[in-house]
Amino acid sequence: MEIKIFDTLPNDALKIRLEVFEREQNTPDGVDEIDSLATHLVLYGDGQAIATCRISKTENEGVYLIGRIAVIRELRGQGIGKIIISHAEKYLQKTDCKIAIIRSRYQVKDFYARCGYEICSDIVYEGERPYIWVKKSILK
Ligand SMILES: CC(C)(COP(=O)(O)OP(=O)(O)OC[C@H]1O[C@@H](n2cnc3c(N)ncnc32)[C@H](O)[C@@H]1OP(=O)(O)O)[C@@H](O)C(=O)NCCC(=O)NCCS
Repeated sequence: MEIKIFDTLPNDALKIRLEVFEREQNTPDGVDEIDSLATHLVLYGDGQAIATCRISKTENEGVYLIGRIAVIRELRGQGIGKIIISHAEKYLQKTDCKIAIIRSRYQVKDFYARCGYEICSDIVYEGERPYIWVKKSILK
């Protein structure tokens, strides 16, 4: 597997996001203003883009947001989600990041718990959809 890091949203990330968030989940998690400011990670397996996420600064010093985390459907449950999160954390270790936060779909909060994230908010709703914020200290 190979990780590539981009400072503009690459087509390979967009393709995965469209498939997972728009077609599969029907969520409004499309391209937004954060994309132009974010760093984008794409994980490749056998030359194929298999997972993505993006990293952006927040307005709070030392706090970074990891978002749009997606693994292609066929390859879920094989540790690839954990791998893309660990690449994001490795990237963050080289920045001034002290805490990574993620807005988790409530249904996948246990995935983030397996990656070492702890819940740090109440459940928040966007429309009918429940989310919860999780966080992890980024140690140098
Ligand atoms: C959530 C997602 C990224 C997880 O990726 P994945 O490759 O399937 O996860 P992994 O195989 O790396 O799983 C890592 C661990 O989390 C657990 N896990 C994975 N998905 C889980 C879920 N939905 N609920 C509970 N636990 C889960 C696994 O059992 C595994 O546990 P282990 O460490 O004890 O073996 C993937 O399912 C996905 O892309 N979903 C659609 C998009 C999405 O919802 N993204 C999250 C937006 S907040």
